[in-house]
Amino acid sequence: MKIVAFAASNSTQSINKKLVTYAASLIDGATVEVLDLNAFNAPIFSTDHEAQHGHPEQAKDFLSKLNGADAILISFAEHNGSYSAAYKSLFDWSSRIQKKVFDGKPVVALATSPGPGGAKSVLAAATASLPFFGATVKASLSVPSFPSNFDVAAGRLSNPELDAQLKAAVATLTA
Ligand SMILES: Cc1cc2nc3c(=O)[nH]c(=O)nc-3n(C[C@H](O)[C@H](O)[C@H](O)COP(=O)(O)O)c2cc1C
Repeated sequence: MKIVAFAASNSTQSINKKLVTYAASLIDGATVEVLDLNAFNAPIFSTDHEAQHGHPEQAKDFLSKLNGADAILISFAEHNGSYSAAYKSLFDWSSRIQKKVFDGKPVVALATSPGPGGAKSVLAAATASLPFFGATVKASLSVPSFPSNFDVAAGRLSNPELDAQLKAAVATLTA
């Protein structure tokens, strides 16, 4: 089984990347690839760019990674209650190439932020819209107050209750 995991963020310090990397490490018996959105740095989505230049290779490469997965793990960064611009643009390009971006695959959606809200707004938006793009959402989890609940040095959740919830969520991908 091949799992593709990524944070929907282009921050080199992304807390969602730290969370999704830990989450991916919990999946037994699977090959896991953690993507970095900076490796798919397409121009910001524009219908004018699309008409003039077609679809960027970076978006085709991103989609090809998703298409090669049996299951997908995403952790969403929240910017002003919604997706990061980097993810939204890459997702928009991907949806123009292949409307069902997630092609019927099982998806676990995570989100975290430094504050108590735990990026719940973007997680709600993502879990509501993912099925329209071919995702079968198996589980979702918001991790609030990332600095208090995640041990960055150890690379794992330090809150046992959240850790149990994360383990249960990722287990749905291989069940
Ligand atoms: C432009 C901007 C808007 C933000 N808006 C929110 C927000 O609406 N809710 C929230 O919980 N955090 C918000 N934050 C804080 C992010 O949750 C924080 O930067 C987090 O580290 C982003 O995830 P990442 O590290 O994976 O990129 C915002 C940050 C930026 C830069």
